[in-house]
Amino acid sequence: MPVLINRPRGTSDFLPGETGRWRYVEKTLLETAARFGFREIRTPVFEHTELFRRGVGDTTDVVTKEMYTFSDKGNRSMTLRPEGTAGITRAAIENGLLNGPLPVKLSYLMDCFRYEKSQKGRFRQFRQFGVECFGPGEAAADAEMIALAFSCLRTLGLNGMELTVNSIGCPVCRADYRKALTEWLERRRTELCDTCRTRLDRNPMRILDCKEPGCRKIAAGAPKTTDFLCPGCRAHFDELRGRLTAAEIPHSADPGIVRGLDYYTRTVFEIAVPGLPALCGGGRYGKLVETLGGPDMEGIGFAMGLERLVAAMEDQGAPFPEEETCDLFIASVGREASQRAFRLVMELRERGISAECDLMGRSVKAQMKFADRLRAKESMVIGDRELETGGAVLRNMKTGGTKTADLEAAPLARALGEPPENG
Ligand code: HAM
Repeated sequence: MPVLINRPRGTSDFLPGETGRWRYVEKTLLETAARFGFREIRTPVFEHTELFRRGVGDTTDVVTKEMYTFSDKGNRSMTLRPEGTAGITRAAIENGLLNGPLPVKLSYLMDCFRYEKSQKGRFRQFRQFGVECFGPGEAAADAEMIALAFSCLRTLGLNGMELTVNSIGCPVCRADYRKALTEWLERRRTELCDTCRTRLDRNPMRILDCKEPGCRKIAAGAPKTTDFLCPGCRAHFDELRGRLTAAEIPHSADPGIVRGLDYYTRTVFEIAVPGLPALCGGGRYGKLVETLGGPDMEGIGFAMGLERLVAAMEDQGAPFPEEETCDLFIASVGREASQRAFRLVMELRERGISAECDLMGRSVKAQMKFADRLRAKESMVIGDRELETGGAVLRNMKTGGTKTADLEAAPLARALGEPPENG
C-alpha cells in the first residue's frame, strides 16, 4: 500500500470542527475594521521577489532567511508573500488608489509564508488579518490604528492584552542613532553571529531583532532609539502616548521594540497576551510608498496572526458561536419514500434550511443513529403510510416532542420555524 504523504512541517490542516471558529473570527475582524472605515482588498499570493527585497528590506531575517522564493517557467524570481504590507502598498499604487481622497483605508485576510523554525505559535504557512492606512502623518492615525487593534481583540472576547509602543525615529534622527549603535556593536563584533557581522556593515538595526541567543543578549544592552529622537519625532511620540492615555488604552513604552522589517519609521507597536508570542505587530512607514514607486506618502498599519489569535481565545475560554448543525434529518423506508425524502431535502435547502437524508442505503435504525451523530435538531421518517397520508411525524431530537407535518416543503419549513411567506 502506498505510504501517506504527510503535510509539510509548519503547516496546518483545519478540520470541519475548527473552520467555523475561523470563519467567525475572520468575519468579526473584517466587520470591526469596516466600522473604522477599512475596506477589504485581496492581492496575489506571490509577487516579484524584488518587491520584498526593496519593501521589507534585503538585510531583514524575513528576506535573507525566510522567504519561499522560486523561479517560474519564464525564469522570473517570484516569492510567496511573507507579509502583507509590501503587496498591499504595491496594489494601492498600481491601481491608483492613492490618487483619490485620503486617507485610504484597506483591510485584508491572507495566508503568508515564512521558512521559520516551527514551534509554538510559529508556522511556515500562517494567516494574517491586517489593515493599512495611507495618507495621514498625524499621531491621531497611529492612535486610531492601535484603537482598532484593541477593538478587534476585545470584540473577540480577549482580556489581558499588553500593548507596547516605541518610536524608532525618522531617517534624519535614525542617522545619529545608527552611528551610536554601530560604535557600540563594533566593540562586540566578535560575539555576533555571522549574519549579524554582515549586518553591522549594512544595517546594524537589524541586529536588534536577530533571533540568535547570543545576539539577543547583546541587543538587550544596546543604545535605545528613544534617546536619539529629533524634536519632531519626540513630539509625534508624545502626542501618540497622550492620545492613548486619553482614550484609556493602557500601554507601556518599550525602547526594545524595533520590529523586524525595514520599512518602519516613528511609531512601532506590538500587542501580546501572556504565554504566547506577539499577537499583533505594526507601525508607521513613512517612506515605503515612495520606495515602491508611489508618491511621497505616509502609511501605517498592523497585522495579527490568526493562529495565535485563535489559540489565545481558546486559552482564555473566549466564546465562539455554536457550531451549525442539521435542522432536519429525513429517514426513509423504501425506494419511493427515499425519492420523496431526497426531493424534500432539496426544496428545504433552497429555503435556507439545512436538511439531510440517507445516502448510504442504511436501515431506518441506522439512519436515526446517524441523525443523532449529525446532531440534527429534528427528524422524520417517511414510509408507505406517510406517502399515502401526505403527512409525517416531526420529532424534536432533544426533547422527544412530536408534531405532525405535511410532506410538502412550504408547510414543513413553517413547522421547522421558517417565518410565513408574505401575504
Ligand atoms: P509581523 O510582526 O512580521 O508584521 O507579523 C504580524 C503578526 O503575524 C505577528 O504578530 C504574528 O502574530 C503573526 N506572525 C508572524 N510570523 C508568524 C509565523 N511564522 N507564524 C505564525 N504567526 C506569525 C508584519 O507582517 C507587518 N506586515 C505588520 C504591519 C502591517 N505593519 C504595518 N502594517
